[in-house]
Amino acid sequence: MTGKGIVVVGTQFGDEGKGKIVDFYASKSTISAVVRFNGGANAGHTIVADGIKYALHLLPSGMVFEKPSFIGNGVVLEFEQLERELQDVHDKKKKDISSLLHISERTTLVLPFHKQLDQFQESLKKKLSKDAGTTKRGIGPAYSDKANRVSIRFIDLFDENHLQAALDVMNDYYAYFTDEVGISLSKQDLLTQLHRYKELYASMLTDVGYEVEKLFLEGKNILFEGAQSTLLDIDQGIYPFNTSSITVVSGASSGTGVGPQHLTERIGVVKAFTSRVGGGPVMGELDYTQGDGKLIQTEGAEFGTTTGRPRRIAWLDLVAIKYAIRINGLTGLAITKVDILGILPECKVIVGYKEKISGKIIESQFPAQLSKFESCEPIYKTFKGWGKKTEDEWKEIIKQGYGSFPKELREFIEFIEKETKVQAYIIGLGQSRDLTFEKIKII
Ligand code: IMP
Repeated sequence: MTGKGIVVVGTQFGDEGKGKIVDFYASKSTISAVVRFNGGANAGHTIVADGIKYALHLLPSGMVFEKPSFIGNGVVLEFEQLERELQDVHDKKKKDISSLLHISERTTLVLPFHKQLDQFQESLKKKLSKDAGTTKRGIGPAYSDKANRVSIRFIDLFDENHLQAALDVMNDYYAYFTDEVGISLSKQDLLTQLHRYKELYASMLTDVGYEVEKLFLEGKNILFEGAQSTLLDIDQGIYPFNTSSITVVSGASSGTGVGPQHLTERIGVVKAFTSRVGGGPVMGELDYTQGDGKLIQTEGAEFGTTTGRPRRIAWLDLVAIKYAIRINGLTGLAITKVDILGILPECKVIVGYKEKISGKIIESQFPAQLSKFESCEPIYKTFKGWGKKTEDEWKEIIKQGYGSFPKELREFIEFIEKETKVQAYIIGLGQSRDLTFEKIKII
């Protein structure tokens, strides 16, 4: 029998607590390998294992659990960051586990000038009020080069003639921008760097689709770790305030070369409220400097993992969640940070949007047009809070099972399940792994 493919994606704007859910599954002995399929060093996962904290941006979480880990072709790879993270894992584990890492031949490289371009392009967009507030990791420019077919892929390092020719094309192409943008692109410097990385990482080069398929056929279960989130997807997200990769479940196939039939469990992470770093509209946004918004932001420690920016806050938006469920074909939900939301005496959930002029109600058809989105107002349902609890109290509740959850919290969870017609597999009740309650066990 083939193994299960479990995909974990975000349903909102990133920072839903995917890291914790990925960590929860990756740490299980029934998961044999972990695969990253999109994004680059713009992601941020904090994982605590054996009391040691790891801040990963690029490495799959499987590395922390010393499992074979794959970086797929859908990722854009920054070698400098990879080197830093491998060193950090090495220092913390006091051993070299780099042989566990496998990188797709087809992975596009982020080169130093992509980050300079990212800064420059954002400053131009700022003047047009269309800056997404990127992480400045060169993500957009690297994916643009890929789509424009002028980028360097990992495999290109292993064909010197091709590499030289590709760098010449890049040099000539960017010569038109260098004066204006002030980016530095020296063919010789790039070659020296790339030759070094080729030596360092040659043994990691692999055909990810082929290797992961083999594992499935051996009956192994594989975890696909999404980065960013549905509303940040290049096609389905809130354009142009999104990222440049395929962040949805289909990216776990296109971004790895693994057939979609293997993606048997598709889990969407839903934070009990909405948060957003960067620009763009957020339905029902709260003021995070006062009142409920401030309380949620402070209690939830809502600051960007990669950039440290304060996250904007809003109530849970079920229109967006239903949209994410449809696009991703979700089989289960992981609802996180309910402990934080519960401390408010009352909380709200957006159950629909009302178009202000026409009065039309939108339940799940997320608007593609920014002006249409902005012309809607949220329709809320109010819930009673379930109270602030200590970690020990939550642990006791977890021990006793779902039936011992506060009634108000069960009402909140069951309302989401009923509205979305998808069951919650996991409820996140706090920071540590033992505060993650598994409502439905899938492996
Ligand atoms: P980029 O991916 O750095 O180009 O940024 C594009 C948009 O996506 C910006 O609004 C970022 O704040 C947002 N973004 C990118 N990665 C993450 C993430 O991992 N969590 C939350 N937001 C992100």
